[in-house]
Amino acid sequence: MDIQSIKKSLEADIAGAQSAPELDAVRVKYLGRKGLLAQLTATIPSLAVEERAAFGKQANELKAHIVALLDEKQRSLGDRAAGPSRSGVDIGMPAIHQDVGRLHVLTQIIQEISEIFKNMGFIIVEGPEIETEFNNFTGLNIPLEHPSREAFDTFYLRQPAQATERLLLRSQTSPVQIRAMKTMKPPLAVVAPGRVYRPDAVDASHSFMFHQIEGFVVDRGITFSDLKGVLEYFARAVFGQDIKMRFRPHFFPFTEPSAEVDISCIICKQKGCSVCGRKGWLEILGSGMIHPNVFKHVGYDPAVYTGFAFGMGVERIAMLKYGINDIRLFYENDLRFLKQF
Ligand code: DAH
Repeated sequence: MDIQSIKKSLEADIAGAQSAPELDAVRVKYLGRKGLLAQLTATIPSLAVEERAAFGKQANELKAHIVALLDEKQRSLGDRAAGPSRSGVDIGMPAIHQDVGRLHVLTQIIQEISEIFKNMGFIIVEGPEIETEFNNFTGLNIPLEHPSREAFDTFYLRQPAQATERLLLRSQTSPVQIRAMKTMKPPLAVVAPGRVYRPDAVDASHSFMFHQIEGFVVDRGITFSDLKGVLEYFARAVFGQDIKMRFRPHFFPFTEPSAEVDISCIICKQKGCSVCGRKGWLEILGSGMIHPNVFKHVGYDPAVYTGFAFGMGVERIAMLKYGINDIRLFYENDLRFLKQF
């Protein structure tokens, strides 16, 4: 083949190459060890001596031309090319996998529940995890001899001998009621999520640290029906519109009357299963009308104001909602668990 016909066929071949491997084949065809350029220069010794220099120069120009066309085409194939590019970056190589972060399932539940109450006009208030004995017990009308005050039910802090009041890790979020009522005046509608601590042995349903959400409303003329309406709206928003609800009489020192709230079992739809203990009902929270003694402790006149309060365990709500059977899963940070939410 002469120089002109090589040029012509090169242009056609380059135009036809649609991928890096195809372009490589073109490169080999022209520049390879047995390629067309090599065949051309192999004829030089057979030429007349005076023709050799000129022919060699033309062959060199042809080579430069081929290289230039190949490079240009390679650039135009650009990102579509696989394999190492001339810059040494292999754009066909799989990217380094990056896990995308997300909110912990408990954070998600706390946000979801807080949002439901915010939509009803509640504000979110947070209290400290280290509390005074007054806020955690006395202010909440929990008597001095109540077993929950014992060291085996509450973590007390080691304190200097001259300390005037015992400090503890709050065992419930209810002390936020005392803090909020002492610093704000009614009407009040407050939700307080946060960590609580109890010296429980860890098992599938107990942890020495867990989360609660406290809520309360105080104003003139607040009644038990307000409590029922608010909690029913909340439970349907979290567990679905078709659930049933019931209020069971109970006792809490800080509310009178008190009730525990059950929802119809969302797992078996009341046919009876191991989660509801074949009862068809699941307990989701404690509640009641705020005790007049609590109002006295914060300086509210119980003859003027009434209110309701409720408290729920966040882990318990999450376990029921998602069918999680071991509380320890929340704290072990196993990505296989966390990634599901
Ligand atoms: N503090 C209670 C507990 O930890 C939960 C609770 C029950 C909170 C009734 C309330 C309430 O505000 O009214 O078991």
